[in-house]
Amino acid sequence: MTTAAVRQLTVREAAERRRAIRAYEPGPLPRADIEAILRVAGLAPSAFNLQPWRFVVVEREDLKARLSEAAGQQRQTVSAPAIIVLYTDTADAVATADAVVHPGNSPERRTRARSSIDRQFSATSDDEREAWGAAQGYIALGFLLLAAESFGYQTSPMLGFDAEKVKAALVLPTHVRVPALIAIGHGAEEGLPHHRHPLERIARFI
Ligand SMILES: Cc1cc2nc3c(=O)[nH]c(=O)nc-3n(C[C@H](O)[C@H](O)[C@H](O)COP(=O)(O)O)c2cc1C
Repeated sequence: MTTAAVRQLTVREAAERRRAIRAYEPGPLPRADIEAILRVAGLAPSAFNLQPWRFVVVEREDLKARLSEAAGQQRQTVSAPAIIVLYTDTADAVATADAVVHPGNSPERRTRARSSIDRQFSATSDDEREAWGAAQGYIALGFLLLAAESFGYQTSPMLGFDAEKVKAALVLPTHVRVPALIAIGHGAEEGLPHHRHPLERIARFI
C-alpha cells in the first residue's frame, strides 16, 4: 500500500505503534514513499542547522547481502526489501555551511552564524568533529523511524554492524560515521509490546 492509500498516523500514534521489527514481507517499496519518509527525516533539527546526515537506500541484492554480512546476518537485514544506511559527513557539512545559514537572516547575522560554525570546529580534531555529527544523526534517525511508521512502514534500527565494512560496500569516505542501519518494509511480525521505564523513573519536575 502506498501513502496515498494510508491515513498517516499522528506523531503520538506512530510512536505508540512503532516497534523494532525483524521480519518483513518481500516486494519492492514505492520510491515516492521512501522519498516522503526521508523528507520528514530531513526536517530534523541540528545544531547550526548543519544537517550532517546522509541516507543511502540500498535495494540492490548484492549490496544488501554485503550490508547483511556487515551486520552479522541479523535476520531483519535478510528479509527487509531495503536497508537505509544513515551516515554523517560533518566535514562536508562544515565545508558547505554557507548553504545552511538561513537566508531569512540579515547579512550581518549570516556572517556571524558562519563564523560561529568555523569557531566551533577550528579547535576540534577530525574525530571529535565527526562524533559531533553522528550525534546529530540520531535526531534524524528518530524522525525517520516515526515517519516510516506514520506512512505505514515498519523499521528496525541497528547499531550492531561493522561500520568499516558498510563504508567499504558503499564506497563512502573513511572519515564519515554510520550512526545506524535501518531495515525498512512492511513488517511480517508484530514485534514486542513496549517495555519502558515509567515516567517517574526518567523525569522529574522541580
Ligand atoms: C540506535 C539503535 C540501535 C539498535 N541496534 C539494534 C541491532 O543492532 N539489532 C537489533 O536487533 N535491534 C537493535 N535495536 C533495536 C532495539 O533493541 C529496540 O529498539 C529496543 O529493544 C526497544 O524495542 P522497540 O523498538 O520494539 O520498542 C537498536 C535500536 C536503536 C535505537
